[in-house]
Amino acid sequence: MSTAQITVDPGSVVGPVRRRTFGSFVEHLGRCVYTGIYEPGHPAADEQGLRTDVLDLVRELGVTTVRYPGGNFVSGYRWEDGIGPVDQRPSRLDLAWHCTEPNTFGVDQFIAWCAKAGIEPMMAVNLGTRGIAEAVDLLEYCTIPGGTAWSDARRANGAAEPYPVTMWCLGNELDGPWQIGHKTAREYGRLAAEVARAMRMVRPDLELVACGSSGTGMPTFGEWEREVLTETYDLVDLVSAHAYYCEEDGDLASFLASAVDMDAFIAGVSATADAVGTALKSTRRIHISFDEWNVWYQHRVESKVPDGDHWPVAPHLLEDRYNVADAVVVGNLLISLLRHTDRVHAASLAQLVNVIAPIMTEPGGPAWRQTIFHPFALTSRHARGDVLGVGVRSPSCATARFGDVPIVDAVATHDQGTGEIAVFLVNRATAEPTRIELDLRALDPIGLVEAVELSNPDHAWHATASDSTSVGPRRLDGVLVDAGRASLVLPPVSWAMVRLRTA
Ligand code: AHR
Repeated sequence: MSTAQITVDPGSVVGPVRRRTFGSFVEHLGRCVYTGIYEPGHPAADEQGLRTDVLDLVRELGVTTVRYPGGNFVSGYRWEDGIGPVDQRPSRLDLAWHCTEPNTFGVDQFIAWCAKAGIEPMMAVNLGTRGIAEAVDLLEYCTIPGGTAWSDARRANGAAEPYPVTMWCLGNELDGPWQIGHKTAREYGRLAAEVARAMRMVRPDLELVACGSSGTGMPTFGEWEREVLTETYDLVDLVSAHAYYCEEDGDLASFLASAVDMDAFIAGVSATADAVGTALKSTRRIHISFDEWNVWYQHRVESKVPDGDHWPVAPHLLEDRYNVADAVVVGNLLISLLRHTDRVHAASLAQLVNVIAPIMTEPGGPAWRQTIFHPFALTSRHARGDVLGVGVRSPSCATARFGDVPIVDAVATHDQGTGEIAVFLVNRATAEPTRIELDLRALDPIGLVEAVELSNPDHAWHATASDSTSVGPRRLDGVLVDAGRASLVLPPVSWAMVRLRTA
């Protein structure tokens, strides 16, 4: 059995664990909203039509922020369609997903849902078909106490108090040719700058996110960020990054190494942003909002959008069923986000319910957890305090997409208040267990709190409505802690969490 050594160094603090790292995303897409978070008439729906069974799972997942309402959808969205009496709202064509949008759910219901879930809302404005005026109107609707047309409209719609929205995304994936209102970097950068300038005239303290690239594979990756940030540098706080991964052609080894791409993505955007700042002689630092990330099997039938004269309401779309290997990759992507906590100040698992989601529902039926739910929930719950520097000496394996990569990846957090250390790790080996030797002597741990792992001999296992529990996180036996060192064995294709206490 091969062995990896991991040394945790409390002298090297990367930065605080940011609660916004554990954000997610609700788009008007498929059944994410309709029969996902919102289903009037469902036995578990509350008086506002919000599914309480889903709310319970969202709280258990530990989601902290939610981006809304898209995604590609936002680039054709008229937010005014979603306010006022529900039975008077217009149905519209949603060009992004070739569906009919009934608008029976809108911004007021979303904010009410966030309050019930204990979640910070993160709004996106339409910079595909719309611009400055509509973005400022929505900002006025949400954040001005009263005395103006839009703020009084909000009050008349039942919300006397302004909404607590400080994070705003300036459009979505405008670098993508699939996006309604797709733009060149200069066109988008100019528009984003002017929208940001106007929004800051309403509220100077907003946290604004400029669109970065839709993936490292985009032909404009790097140059897009350079041009957009050159136009917007002093007006925005964050630049977005989006990344989706999947197992291609049975290449499990490359898939398990997806976090290598996320690491490179973050490093590339950081370097580009800093280069722009240097050229502009600015002392500001632009941070990253990794506001779409997940596993997504885009080429499967589940993601085939309707076409022709068929414009359905809330069809089954992007309803990927996640297996154990997918969960290991999601756990590893969270490790990558955490180890870049100095630069990644927000992130959103895309998406939350039914659409490439940790939570699934049946219309009129149950809600359940997918495999990817577990590493997210456990990391959100137990990654606390500071992210510490971790040295990993690991055997490597060859991958077709990323060359030689370490088979073990890890990150550690330390909560000085409780004294707890949490180490999150993955074994990317496809067939062999790996022994882990953890050196925590500098932190002087005195005992194990718990060790759990997620793996399965059949890593293609996935949860269903009738069996969502037969594979899940379970106790990792055989963890030995002695004199500041711990040893354990990770099964192949596994994610694990080891929690220890200090005196
Ligand atoms: O999350 C699904 C889609 O992926 C989003 O609508 C879009 O922003 C991205 O391409």
